[in-house]
Amino acid sequence: MKKPRLLSMIFVERKMAEIGQDLNRAAHLLREGELVAIPTETVYGLAGNALNPLGIARIFETKNRPSFDPLIMHCANLETVKRHVQGDIPRAALDLAAAFWPGPLTLLLPKAAHVPDLLTSGLPRVAVRIPRHPLTLQLLSQLDFPLAAPSANPFGYISPTRASHVEDQLGNKIPYILDGGPCEVGVESTIVGFEQGRIIVHRPGGVSIEEIERVVGPVVLQAHAGSNPQAPGMLDSHYAPRKKVYFGDMTELMNQFGTEKAAILAWQCENPGLPTPRFFALSANGNLREAASRLFEGLRHLDNSEASFILAEPVPSEGLGLAINDRLKRASA
Ligand code: TXA
Ligand code: MG
Repeated sequence: MKKPRLLSMIFVERKMAEIGQDLNRAAHLLREGELVAIPTETVYGLAGNALNPLGIARIFETKNRPSFDPLIMHCANLETVKRHVQGDIPRAALDLAAAFWPGPLTLLLPKAAHVPDLLTSGLPRVAVRIPRHPLTLQLLSQLDFPLAAPSANPFGYISPTRASHVEDQLGNKIPYILDGGPCEVGVESTIVGFEQGRIIVHRPGGVSIEEIERVVGPVVLQAHAGSNPQAPGMLDSHYAPRKKVYFGDMTELMNQFGTEKAAILAWQCENPGLPTPRFFALSANGNLREAASRLFEGLRHLDNSEASFILAEPVPSEGLGLAINDRLKRASA
């Protein structure tokens, strides 16, 4: 029997997202409660109205993300941040904001009553940041609400650093991708909280610990993972390609696994003779900023190769290296 026409019309797939730089279109869709992928200096975000529980629920659903993992609120400026935060902002937080906003820093601050519990997964603090991307800053200033935006990847997979990465992964689920070019920093924001006079880094990221300590003095690094982490998104396994990743000393890994079926993510070493689709060096001349900006692209490149698994080596554990090693460790968990 032929399928009735109406039924086949109901089951047509949603069409692919448009990609462009039309701020008015992005703003219009967001006001209508739709999701739009937005560029930031760190990674692309999957944005919706942060004050609208329905929009927030849509983000969790589209990313397939568990709702115990709260979202970051993106604001246009400090005045807006203050509107969504309860009480006075601690001195150290203001100093960090002055030093690094707009930029790859997220602050955990007590949330104002009107901020939906769904955004913070019921936690008393809201994660806020002012991103440093001209298109997104302009978009935020056109809207009269802040944007909730997790990285625009399916939960647990590699974060997107180009509009095409978002298109590949979520293109059939959202109407519009605002194309701001490749992300400058390439790893997510550093998450900082304030507890009983202590300053705690919950996720190493685009602002290094050294830079933070230069402004506020010593901090505690508590980017621990497990089943009940402080920043719930810091699960052991995250940022992972489809292929298995082994993380450690490269010579040892090559001895153990061989290179015949391997893809290699190197810090700056020479290609040991693998075909290009199976080799990616993060920074030939050992620059950690360059390495951070190429990390997720490299993992994607190797994940799409013919290799059976990926070998990755740590970068020096200083500056942005901490965030890079953190992501590699989680990718391998
Ligand atoms: O650079 C970034 O931060 C990117 C861009 C798009 O802004 N966003 C991003 O979002 O990385 P997401 O959702 O992939 O990671 C946010 C992290 C998660 O680990 C989450 O658990 C933590 O922030 N987080 C969010 N709100 C929190 C809260 N209220 N308390 C503790 N942790 C929170
Ligand atoms: Mg993420």
